[in-house]
Amino acid sequence: MKMETEADIRLAGVGKTFGSGANAVRAIGDATLDMQRGDFISLLGPSGCGKTTLLRIIAGLERPTEGEILVRGRAVWEEGKRSSEATRPVSMMFQEARLFPWFTVAENVALPLRLQGVAKAEREARAHALCETVGLKGFETMRPSALSGGMRQRASLARALITKPQVLLLDEPFGALDAMTRDTLNMELMSVCAEARVTTILVTHSITEAAFLSDRVVVLAARPARITEVIEMPFERPRTLDLQRTTAFQDMLVRLRSTLTGGH
Ligand SMILES: Nc1ncnc2c1ncn2[C@@H]1O[C@H](COP(=O)(O)OP(=O)(O)OP(=O)(O)O)[C@@H](O)[C@H]1O
Ligand SMILES: [Mg+2]
Repeated sequence: MKMETEADIRLAGVGKTFGSGANAVRAIGDATLDMQRGDFISLLGPSGCGKTTLLRIIAGLERPTEGEILVRGRAVWEEGKRSSEATRPVSMMFQEARLFPWFTVAENVALPLRLQGVAKAEREARAHALCETVGLKGFETMRPSALSGGMRQRASLARALITKPQVLLLDEPFGALDAMTRDTLNMELMSVCAEARVTTILVTHSITEAAFLSDRVVVLAARPARITEVIEMPFERPRTLDLQRTTAFQDMLVRLRSTLTGGH
């Protein structure tokens, strides 16, 4: 008998309006979505359609005006108050790297562990291992100002992963990367997420990246953001970069592109 499993992330009728009266901006309309443990979904949609706002609401950084968000069965927002219990397994990587300039790369990466009171030796060991994973080996003792934009993003990804999150929210993590580094990091991300069965939501403007990494691609329409389509990516796992050259994959890109532009 199949056990009924509780959703890992549940969005039920989530809405968000900024401001009020004549200045009100309706950022999110009515977002409803269930994710199971280990699901990887991407959000695709035009600039300003509310993707960042939706991630911030799930992470407990922004209060929704309607609806409910459950992470592992716990409400993130209860009577307008954030539950730190619910958001503990959640890690968010922001659209901007947000590194502290006075810390080294390794110290920035290790910061969430320091806040959790993890001992120095363990923090350093884990930070160094993750720097290697994201291709920052040799840069651990540098300050963020000495890094390129893409390297800062990688440091920020390492910082998001260091707590071994169960839920990972990534806001355009690879926007400033060249194609080859992006491919490498996509592969790393996919294996990290699969290994630990991390439930992941990725915001990206790259249709290829969304199709390659995801179990499902969620297409949003603008003002207010609404989920217009949820499209399954029926490609077997584990996936390799060769998948991107297949006809099935290319056909999927065509379909996603036409969904995004509104033509069906
Ligand atoms: N703090 C805020 N106060 C008022 N309006 C806001 C606030 N944050 C976001 N908005 C508005 O909500 C809408 C959605 O913004 P959001 O940043 O979520 O979009 P996005 O989809 O992430 O865009 P992009 O792809 O450019 O990053 C926009 O119209 C924006 O102006
Ligand atoms: Mg955004």
